[in-house]
Amino acid sequence: MSEGGTTRRFMAMKGGGYYSKATTGAKDVIDGATPLILDALDRMAPEDDGSVFTMSDMGCADGGTSIGMVARVLGEVRRRCPSRPIQIVYTDLPRNDFGQVFRNVYGLSDLEGYADAIPDLYVFASAASFHSPILPPGTLNLGFSSTATHYISAVPARIPNHVHMVRAEGRCKLSRERQGRKDWESILLNRARELAPGGRLCLFNFGIDEEGRYLGHSGGVSMFDTYDAHWAALRDEGTITEEEYLDTNFPQHFRTVAEFTAPLLDESGPVHAAGLRLEHVETRVVGCPYARDFAGHGDAAKFARDYIPTLRSWSEATFAKGLSPDRPADERAAIIDRFYDAYETRVRESPEGHGMDYVHCYLVIRKA
Ligand SMILES: C[S@@+](CC[C@H](N)C(=O)[O-])C[C@H]1O[C@@H](n2cnc3c(N)ncnc32)[C@H](O)[C@@H]1O
Repeated sequence: MSEGGTTRRFMAMKGGGYYSKATTGAKDVIDGATPLILDALDRMAPEDDGSVFTMSDMGCADGGTSIGMVARVLGEVRRRCPSRPIQIVYTDLPRNDFGQVFRNVYGLSDLEGYADAIPDLYVFASAASFHSPILPPGTLNLGFSSTATHYISAVPARIPNHVHMVRAEGRCKLSRERQGRKDWESILLNRARELAPGGRLCLFNFGIDEEGRYLGHSGGVSMFDTYDAHWAALRDEGTITEEEYLDTNFPQHFRTVAEFTAPLLDESGPVHAAGLRLEHVETRVVGCPYARDFAGHGDAAKFARDYIPTLRSWSEATFAKGLSPDRPADERAAIIDRFYDAYETRVRESPEGHGMDYVHCYLVIRKA
């Protein structure tokens, strides 16, 4: 199925500022890796030649989690290149709350906006998918994306036994890997076309690290298994149908380091031919901020109350999409509330081991 028929149709983080308020861990990931971007900028050594400097934030959601990083990086571009107009293009899918992006960057929310502090700055938004071209050829100087490239363009097959590909097996697993490979290559080729010579991509991607860890699965209670257990329980008690259970699949592929680097290291492949060169690769685990706070305050009810919104901010669209459109909207909303309430009860009653540690593969790539 084409992207138009799947992910683009329904995918969005929760809007109205909910996403970045509830997802402080994603901000920790970006803030912690900002030195990688500043180092890349240093190696790029942009000339102060009066030409437009373009940065993109691909899969930006409401732009709140990247706001501190963008302020620092574009502040540095302004310092180095006083004569260059700067444009930043925030990109996401059409259902994204782009209005919130502008409220955030212009300081009309709880966040500290930066747009008025950087002279000669132009802020734009695009709803073009990162699986397709976003910018005109040769115009991008610094492409950034965090916690987004795991969204595949289409779900190749339903996973019969689980809601996420991390537990897919056999042919189903192979079809996810194939889709993940195809999409990763096209993400890179589209960016290669957009990048100006010497430009950089800083891509901080959810993935599977060398020890088999991935989001919410780093030693404690596995988050995706918990999702699946609760969704399957709703099926078993007759609240949702078997079809709805089967229709609920995260449109994601978590790549391994080998999967991320293969097209960049293959000197006879199209990505290398398009000029992309790997400058830096590493994996990191960034701890769940809510589990960290719980270790300090020890209040299980507070932990459960604080933690579930972060899960909800990015996963709700997938569970809502799994439910039959024939159900009235309020019935669907009640099922979704019940699902997250059950998760919250579980964490409140038995908090040990819960948490959503972030596992990323950080890539810095140069356009030759
Ligand atoms: C988990 S959020 C990450 C948001 C932000 N970058 C961060 O690090 O907090 C993933 C974002 O990627 C977006 N996304 C998913 N597929 C996309 C695509 N094909 N093109 C552009 N954005 C996409 C989602 O809509 C969502 O806003």
